[in-house]
Amino acid sequence: MCGIVGYVGPREARPLLLAGLDQLEYRGYDSAGISVLKGDTIEAVRAVGNLSALRGAISAGTDTGAVAVAERPQPGTGIGHTRWATHGGVTEENAHPHFDTSDRIHIVVNGIVENYIELKQRLIDEGAMFTSETDAEVIAHLVADHYDGDLVKAVRTAYAELRGHYAFVAMSADEPGLLVGARNECPLIIGRGQDEQFIASAIPAFLRETRHVQYIDNDEIVVVRPEGVEFFSAAGQALPRDIVEIDWDAETAEKQGYETFMLKEIHEQADAVAETIGERAARNDGIDLGDLGTIDDELLRNVRRIVMVACGTSYHAGLIGRYAIEEWSRVPVDVEIASEYRYRNPVVGAGDLVIGISQSGETADTLAAMRTARQRGATVLALTNIMGSQATREADGVLYTRAGLEIGVAATKTFVSQVAACYLLALRLAELRGTLEPDVLTETITELKHLPHLIALMLEHGIENIERIALAHHRADFFLYLGRHVGLPVALEGALKLKEISYIATDAYAAGEMKHGPIALLDQNTPVVVIATDSPVLEKIISNIQEVRARGAQVIAVATEGDRRLEGHADEVIEIPATNWMLAPLLAVVPLQLLAYYIARKRELSVDQPRNLAKTVTVE
Ligand code: AGP
Repeated sequence: MCGIVGYVGPREARPLLLAGLDQLEYRGYDSAGISVLKGDTIEAVRAVGNLSALRGAISAGTDTGAVAVAERPQPGTGIGHTRWATHGGVTEENAHPHFDTSDRIHIVVNGIVENYIELKQRLIDEGAMFTSETDAEVIAHLVADHYDGDLVKAVRTAYAELRGHYAFVAMSADEPGLLVGARNECPLIIGRGQDEQFIASAIPAFLRETRHVQYIDNDEIVVVRPEGVEFFSAAGQALPRDIVEIDWDAETAEKQGYETFMLKEIHEQADAVAETIGERAARNDGIDLGDLGTIDDELLRNVRRIVMVACGTSYHAGLIGRYAIEEWSRVPVDVEIASEYRYRNPVVGAGDLVIGISQSGETADTLAAMRTARQRGATVLALTNIMGSQATREADGVLYTRAGLEIGVAATKTFVSQVAACYLLALRLAELRGTLEPDVLTETITELKHLPHLIALMLEHGIENIERIALAHHRADFFLYLGRHVGLPVALEGALKLKEISYIATDAYAAGEMKHGPIALLDQNTPVVVIATDSPVLEKIISNIQEVRARGAQVIAVATEGDRRLEGHADEVIEIPATNWMLAPLLAVVPLQLLAYYIARKRELSVDQPRNLAKTVTVE
């Protein structure tokens, strides 16, 4: 995911910005850039690739039409950025910082501006000249449009017009020693120094310089000057803010204070889903999937059948996608394990859309399955998290998830992003094919957009209960997971998470199938995790729970908040917020990830790097 760093103070900004960006490398990026004030102009240097490419561009004194960076050290005002491409390819023009037409306002942005298309058109009509394909650039032109010598006011006015999920920092050539930041959902933090200040998307960016931080809350604007930092609400009201001293070491800093990358990534899931949905659901009455290569509306409208090919967690995301696509758009969907599909002589060809789901875009079996389908005349869509990965190069179109870099071997935030992307595709198909009533479509989109908020709420309030359940069951030898309908892939994913990181044997089954075999495994020592969220099949699930309890097994139910139907049926209940039942998997999987996580931690295992597993499986 992208990284932001900014500096104001007496020292030369450039080395501090570069050192800050070094510390943000762990987040993953594909291009980088910095802007520093020199005299009364701002000089930008940007480069595709890693930070050594940026350093090379700086020492070569070259930029995308930029002026050479000053050789003489300058007291500093500057901003820097590492970009993980979402809107627009990996090019220098799309790298940040972005600037307005007069090159007087520079900005760095993380996140997504949902309404950039309408703003961009308005600004172009007023004479702005855009140089990138990004949504982010619109902020530079918008701030410039409102600028009359007061950057704080211009940022506040621009902020009021923006919709989305983002954080940005702006500087003006006319106001040295000033940075103005704004935060809407995406993180932004202040590092306080002696007569110098830092602003960044994550603490590691300035941890070598200061351990004194001030947290910027959502919907706030900060005014950063060497002598101090002022906090304002979006409406302009001054706000008090404590300075907190943190005691992180370098490793903790990389993990943002979390004990492991996996826990950090679980906590990034609200952001990952919000970014994946982003501007694609901006208009509420439908979905815009952006550029899908040769996969146009006509093709989606007339598609005969969809086949999803994937492995592991990505396969589970596909299973959820199938329910949504079939329910909402009535297109038949098959979901296939890629390693089986590639050797099966599958019946597939023209008129079929084959979707390769792969976080990495490099999984050998998924790539081979996509190739098989393409050779037989099918159209192939890559659904992946990694720009430029092999899957994107071999497909007719790409639908990106926007989860950012995932370091933990066990997929978490990339899974919820894949599921969100499947929902978007399902709703787009429904819109194009007219299979959902317009008011139902709008209502479902509204509920989908609310999910990041619900995920964040669960992560804020639900963890204690799960830790307690993990403590009670962490010595078990075997867990059974049960679900029906969309609850079944959630059960499969929960079971995979537990076996991957805790090395406990698990099985996941369609609850109705339990009495055809797995019921023989149950005794009073067996924890059985049941996905029992509100849905048309809940009564059936409750009957299955009774079958489980009749064998003395312990039931841990994942249920919808306030649903009294579960009362007296489960030994433990983990509640998730109420939502559209088809969307519930995005919430229900989160406690299962946490349950697996805390069980593995109680067993003192290395959750980020479980034995025998690789993050990307590029071999058969
Ligand atoms: C999930 O926790 C695993 N890391 C694994 O099952 C993974 O989902 C699978 O290897 C597929 O990877 P991909 O999404 O990169 O293709």
